[in-house]
Amino acid sequence: MSLAVGRINLVRGWPAPDLLPVHHLSAAAQRVLSDPSIYEPALQYGDDLGYRPLREALSDWLSTHYNVSRDPDRICISGGASQNIACILQSFTDPAYTRAIWMVAPCYHLACTIFRDAGFEGRIRGFSEDEEGIDLVELEEGIKKVDEQQQAVTSPKLFKDAGQYHKFYRHVVYVVPTSANPSGKTMSLRRRKDLVTLARKYDALVICDDVYDFLQWPLHGSAENLERPEMRLPRLCDIDLGMGQAPEDTRGFGYAVSNGSFSKIAGPGIRTGWLEGSKAFSFGLSQTGSTMSGGSPSQFCASILAELLQTGNLQTHLSKIIRPTLQRRHRLLMEAFHERLAPLGVECRESSLPNGTSYGGYFVWLTLPKDMPSRLVAEVALHKENLIVGNGAMFEVHGNNNGKHHNFNRHIRLTFAYVSEDELVEGVQRLRNVIQRIRHKPQQYVDQKLGLPDNLLETSK
Ligand SMILES: Cc1ncc(COP(=O)(O)O)c(C=O)c1O
Repeated sequence: MSLAVGRINLVRGWPAPDLLPVHHLSAAAQRVLSDPSIYEPALQYGDDLGYRPLREALSDWLSTHYNVSRDPDRICISGGASQNIACILQSFTDPAYTRAIWMVAPCYHLACTIFRDAGFEGRIRGFSEDEEGIDLVELEEGIKKVDEQQQAVTSPKLFKDAGQYHKFYRHVVYVVPTSANPSGKTMSLRRRKDLVTLARKYDALVICDDVYDFLQWPLHGSAENLERPEMRLPRLCDIDLGMGQAPEDTRGFGYAVSNGSFSKIAGPGIRTGWLEGSKAFSFGLSQTGSTMSGGSPSQFCASILAELLQTGNLQTHLSKIIRPTLQRRHRLLMEAFHERLAPLGVECRESSLPNGTSYGGYFVWLTLPKDMPSRLVAEVALHKENLIVGNGAMFEVHGNNNGKHHNFNRHIRLTFAYVSEDELVEGVQRLRNVIQRIRHKPQQYVDQKLGLPDNLLETSK
């Protein structure tokens, strides 16, 4: 059989071009650039905490959505979620003091490198995901074990000085509580509460990539509004705030932060996001050296985004375009899945929460039948069907030296946000062809040693 025509890329975690709010961005940019009272500050170095009108507009929007009190001083503008993780680590961890980074497995794979860059090579540890989001028992056992081992170590010489505005946490826990990348799971309310309690007990900072919170929809019915309670679960930073200041936390930094991003709702090239946490944390983050030197990241884009939020255009774009489009694409993918993959023994979670009525994010996470190693499936998909899929090994926690190793060699991540609807359905058909090919002549494909290109990671986000 000849190679299928036209490559279909189901690994790319980008928004489809028709999801980008181009006209709103263009109108907002025109307004910004025609008014000196806006463009002068927007084109200068920004305040360390970020462009004030955007912080105000974000606090209006976020406080209404999450039903919390409004406070722009809890918000610090960032250069996107990824860059912000790096800034958080610079200011609130010291590799000589912070004992480990804990990542739920499967993980958002590209975050591993950010932790490694910050000096945590060999101390990035995975813990299991469960039906409700995370296995807290396994996480606590792991933390206790590391703490016991470390107690024997004499006090290390730190690399950094926490100074007046920072503290160093003993552990960092990284999670995507809503519509996780790659599994699509949402963490239940009780797991959220218990995770914050655990973080307080072990002096851990929970970094929550809340980048998909506004990208949720019901499985049936209109996707315009995020009305259902299961789509409006509190962020961990709100739960932490609601618990009041812990007695040991004398300067009020708190134990959980929300790492938000405009990447998935206005375009990754916008390179702008925000952090919400305690006032002390938010201010401390703004005192990261690179921000103090360069001013707030993405100052100009922040001025455009402020317009988008103030006019309500971004909110309208989300309800009228982005959520309904993602809902339709997810539904199409699931219909194709039921028709073409489920009969071959492939499994997939239907809703974000167990027995839930909604889904969200960009991804579905497939479990392949026992005789189907995902790497082989990805290789045959690429070389014989011109289809790119995310093989499970990509989402293992890399850098985990002696912790439990979580293996995903029977999993595949598919993105439904990027390719056209026709390609989505065709992609599922090609995946079916791959499974049937391998079933028919498994050894033939193993012997061919087809391989995967190294640059797959770059576009996988
Ligand atoms: C969980 C998660 N965090 C962060 C990012 C990247 O965010 P940003 O573009 O804001 O750096 C992604 C992109 O896919 C993601 O899935």
